[in-house]
Amino acid sequence: MTVGWVFLALSCLSLSAGLQRTNKYEGYKVYEVSGKARSVAFAETLSELVKNASYYEVFSEFNGGNPAKIMVHPQEQVNFVQLMDENNVQYDIINRNVGLTLSRQFETNRMLRQWFPYNGRLGTERYYNHEEINQFIEDLAREHPRRAFLKTVGRSYEGRWLKTITITNGDARRNKNVILVDGGFHAREWISPAAATYLINQLVYNLEDNADLLLDFDWVILPVVNPDGYEYTQLSEDTRLWRKTRKPSSSDCIGTDPNRNFDFHWNEEGASDDPCDITYAGAKAFSEPEALVVGDLIHSYVDRGQMYLTLHSYGSLILYPWGWTAAVPDTEEDLHEVAAAGQSAIQEATGTIYTIGPSTTTINYTASGASDDYAFNAGFPISFTMELPFGGKGFDPPASDIDSIVKETWVGIAAMARKVIQKYPLA
Ligand code: ARG
Ligand code: ZN
Repeated sequence: MTVGWVFLALSCLSLSAGLQRTNKYEGYKVYEVSGKARSVAFAETLSELVKNASYYEVFSEFNGGNPAKIMVHPQEQVNFVQLMDENNVQYDIINRNVGLTLSRQFETNRMLRQWFPYNGRLGTERYYNHEEINQFIEDLAREHPRRAFLKTVGRSYEGRWLKTITITNGDARRNKNVILVDGGFHAREWISPAAATYLINQLVYNLEDNADLLLDFDWVILPVVNPDGYEYTQLSEDTRLWRKTRKPSSSDCIGTDPNRNFDFHWNEEGASDDPCDITYAGAKAFSEPEALVVGDLIHSYVDRGQMYLTLHSYGSLILYPWGWTAAVPDTEEDLHEVAAAGQSAIQEATGTIYTIGPSTTTINYTASGASDDYAFNAGFPISFTMELPFGGKGFDPPASDIDSIVKETWVGIAAMARKVIQKYPLA
């Protein structure tokens, strides 16, 4: 090697080291705060404190005895830790530098995209973008013209096509019951579209094991409800933790929480009317085209619809209505029975323990204007939000954990579907 080459190699090295630039989340930490030691008074202090969005972001609340996971700004950490200590609250640091995790994951994802280009199938090796997911369901429908049907159901604010895939067993029987599944409401919850695409794979390519799931039921799946947000989170480390849609509001802040935008108890408790908040309910109900699309889907399938399932992350929870109030529906037993089928199937398969229950008291916060309540109120007898497990140090599991999580999720969904099929046979 000539001196020139060595010099070039060295300067490239230092350049790439220099390119490990710091990002917005440099020095942010994620604390896991024990749910046990807290008093009611302290819980209130904490929940007031974390409302300060410039310093805090709650990744998951205390629920079912699980600790809360809270991301804290570098300048606030001393204060935060002091408060925990003063109140004898146990905490662990589960991520010492969110920025570093994000930049590593970003780099890994970039490499994985090159190693595993889209080839007509969506595997579990990496996370896929919205274009690839749409391409995949289009290709599926073309290759399985009797079993998979593509439908364009709307357009996102930035003009991305929202497409559902309907999967059948190909017997051409009409008016079967329906299971409606969506993913990708919240932009940063990447494991959700991944679980939705795995479900599509199972239903299309594994008819042997899943024939009973398609005998009297069709499945309609919208894998990415909020593609603008989803794509935005793939741009850089700084945008990775975006949650909302991307439509500008009247203020300087962008985006609405699509899961607060539904026209059922819209903008009541647990939704914000501040456009800068991450739970902003929008200027009015169904102000977001993406939420409206899901609302329309719910209405168009409600006559045949027996289960609505919306996939989020994270928390290992199966939540049923209501989420807008702590009250529970008259049919709680039915909801509980189906959720329990998913819970025990998952526990048997992998040991992962899901907590199940009515949304408000199980997740420990009220959230009104969400799609699950909307679907239930519209007439789906079973309606769940499934919060997939936490899988690492970032917001989502690293790519290496996708496979085990989506498989486990499928086990739960299939078990719940079997219970639904048994409870609500085709009339
Ligand atoms: N993590 C979800 C959210 O905050 C939970 C929604 C539960 N459902 C409800 N109706 N509150 O949007
Ligand atoms: Zn979510």
